[in-house]
Amino acid sequence: MFLVTTPIYYVNDEPHIGHFYTTLAADVLARYYRALGKEVFFLTGTDEHGLKMQKSAQERSLSPKELADKNSSIFKSLWDELGISYTRFIRTTEKDHIELVKEVFLKCKENGFIYKGEYSGWYCVGCEEFKPESELLEGNACPIHLKPCEYITEPTYFFKLTAFGDFIKDFLKSGAVMPAGRVNEILSFIQEGLKDLSVTRPRSRVSWGIPVPFDKEHTIYVWFDALFNYVSGLPSWPASLHLVGKDILRFHALYWPAFLKSVNLELPERIFAHGWWKVEGQKMSKSLGNVLKPADLITSWGLDEIRYFLLREIPFGEDGDISNDAILRRINAELSNGVGNLFSRVIGIAIKFGKTQISGLKDVYYCNKAEEFVKSYHSKMQDIDFYGALEEVMSFCAFLNKYIDTKAPWALKDEELISNVLYALLDGVSLVCSCLEPFMPNKMQKALSAIGLSAPIFSPCAKQSHRVFNQLTLFPRR
Ligand code: ME8
Ligand code: MG
Repeated sequence: MFLVTTPIYYVNDEPHIGHFYTTLAADVLARYYRALGKEVFFLTGTDEHGLKMQKSAQERSLSPKELADKNSSIFKSLWDELGISYTRFIRTTEKDHIELVKEVFLKCKENGFIYKGEYSGWYCVGCEEFKPESELLEGNACPIHLKPCEYITEPTYFFKLTAFGDFIKDFLKSGAVMPAGRVNEILSFIQEGLKDLSVTRPRSRVSWGIPVPFDKEHTIYVWFDALFNYVSGLPSWPASLHLVGKDILRFHALYWPAFLKSVNLELPERIFAHGWWKVEGQKMSKSLGNVLKPADLITSWGLDEIRYFLLREIPFGEDGDISNDAILRRINAELSNGVGNLFSRVIGIAIKFGKTQISGLKDVYYCNKAEEFVKSYHSKMQDIDFYGALEEVMSFCAFLNKYIDTKAPWALKDEELISNVLYALLDGVSLVCSCLEPFMPNKMQKALSAIGLSAPIFSPCAKQSHRVFNQLTLFPRR
């Protein structure tokens, strides 16, 4: 089974395009593996405890639970409206999760990895994290949230992170964490010297959270609580893949493996950290107030178009800027002139010849090209290289357009030759639409049914014949 997760998002505010991005990536992989016939479990949800929530609720004169209920349901209904194909939407305020976290925390203590002490340091509420002094900007500001951290001294329970340094280094060097460039950042963080991690907050300061099972004066650290959603939410462990943004890679690639090991659980098979969408060079974030809402972009450009743009505009793993100009360019160049044009051209030729049922001899040249294409597409998808996979689709579209030009079917007289060319073209179009289906399920399902397919197919030249039902304008020019 393919078990894929997104971060569980904080519900102090509403979703923006950054949250949609990670969730979309998971959705595309879930749809892809389902299309391959694999069983898939896709977990997403909301992270509801902690100081950030407690403070946001206070500011709005709501109880934390009221704020969590309100915003969690906004996330969930947005994913439902946008057709995100999750299997479970988990909330950290759910009973099964809370029970599991308590159990694991206790086990961690029994295994000798939790001890009591006192902590002093700079806390960033935005990150829900004590920041190492070396990372602070001027005025003790957090480098992600650009706001001053708070200096805190308090009794706490520590997690013996220092016991896991070598274990984590081995994990990081195993290739499980991607992209490779990001791994070095974590390795050098370890190199600077690990410290034990504070994993509780005094109940007097943070009351909105899971109580420490053996000491009611303390609340379990929200990241310890949140990370274990992956264990409480998935039907089996370990996860195949955690998708996260680079802002939270340290939690996933450093603390998470240590937490898991401390309670004898296996490590996730893969972790992928993607980059940030920025606006005028700055990370889009709630706390900076420069967010774009998915619904607004989708109303202007269309759901499938935005899905395509986000995974095509920048290689997964890198940062990028969003602008309407960039979206317009992608839609016109690749969707209207590329895929859409190829589709209606091929259907147009078939209809013109009065051929709606096409069985031809297989053109070996075409079939080899198609085999090559599908193979590279799969390898890119399995490497979580969406950009590369879409690049393969675009090159194959270009190949098919050239194929039409060189074969010039409109000038052919021989019935058999015409059928052969049409067979190859329809085969090609069906592969293009199939490979794009995980990215643009709505338009591609229409396209596939116009050529008589109810689901994606990935084997070139395997069908006896192709059929054509109706013409479609998939992506009108903007
Ligand atoms: O960190 N560009 O939640 P969060 C791309 N609750 N992706 C972005 C983004 C941007 N500008 N802004 C946000 C938390 N994201 C914790 C997670 S997991 C056990 C707990 C995406 O609401 C990206 O996936 O701050 C990032 O890692 C996540 O939203 C952070 O969401
Ligand atoms: Mg954040």
